[in-house]
Amino acid sequence: MRLNGRSALITGAARGIGKEFAQAYAREGARVAIGDINLSAAREAAAEIGDAAYAIELDVTDQSSIDAAISTVVDTAGKLDILINNAALFDAAETVDITRESYDRLYAVNVAGTLFTMQAAARQMIAQGHGGKIINMASQAGRRGESLVLVYCSTKAAVISMTQSAGLNLIKHGINVNAIAPGVVDGAHWEHVDSMFAKLEGKPLGQKKAEVEAGVPAGRFAVPADLTGMAVFLASDEANYIVSQTYNVDGGQWMS
Ligand SMILES: NC(=O)c1ccc[n+]([C@@H]2O[C@H](COP(=O)([O-])OP(=O)(O)OC[C@H]3O[C@@H](n4cnc5c(N)ncnc54)[C@H](O)[C@@H]3O)[C@@H](O)[C@H]2O)c1
Repeated sequence: MRLNGRSALITGAARGIGKEFAQAYAREGARVAIGDINLSAAREAAAEIGDAAYAIELDVTDQSSIDAAISTVVDTAGKLDILINNAALFDAAETVDITRESYDRLYAVNVAGTLFTMQAAARQMIAQGHGGKIINMASQAGRRGESLVLVYCSTKAAVISMTQSAGLNLIKHGINVNAIAPGVVDGAHWEHVDSMFAKLEGKPLGQKKAEVEAGVPAGRFAVPADLTGMAVFLASDEANYIVSQTYNVDGGQWMS
């Protein structure tokens, strides 16, 4: 029960990694808001988790939606102690084929969404006066470029950089800002990635995934549960002296 009595908001938690985080936080004693643009899926996830979880409709590209979500958390749980900025979009294209529409969409969710949800949460935590924990979802994609993934990689590099600056700025309020950089995690996201690469590289479905898996030192894709230990730790009091860091949880793919 390392998060007993805490109130958490996890963005994009209706499925995948965010949903697994919500389950883990509930097991550790937290009250968890599942904020997602897909409200019906968020409701299903909350119902699966039980009384500790509740769904909130949240579009991280919309400032009024972010503000309303923070207000709902405070109305429902009395406070906000933990934010995980988890919502993100992926796209892939040849550099010469990248569209402004794709760039704008990914930057709106992955970069501006992370920044302004972090800002709204930090304002609430400062007003409460007892600090808090903010965890941003980066990626190994933010550690180095990839030939067909310019926009997504650059958004995740921005998440690592924003984590560093915000962490330095907010620690004076007792708010720890850190990030997790997963490698490759099985789920709907990677099914989408695999199908995009099948089109772009002319490969049968599943081949890109198999090639990527062969390159993971741990010998397999992660499952979302492989990431929950780090997400609980960074939200707990054990992480009070950890500031501005991005931790790789990637089966050995990146070392820094
Ligand atoms: N799956 C991987 O291999 C992998 C690897 C590295 C990093 N990550 C990162 O981990 C995080 C979670 O990944 P995942 O695989 O679970 O993703 P996912 O695509 O399965 O889930 C993303 C969720 O975000 C929601 N969402 C999309 N746009 C939104 C918006 N504007 N506002 C609120 N919610 C929105 C979606 O409805 C969905 O429920 C992301 O930040 C992703 O970039 C994933």
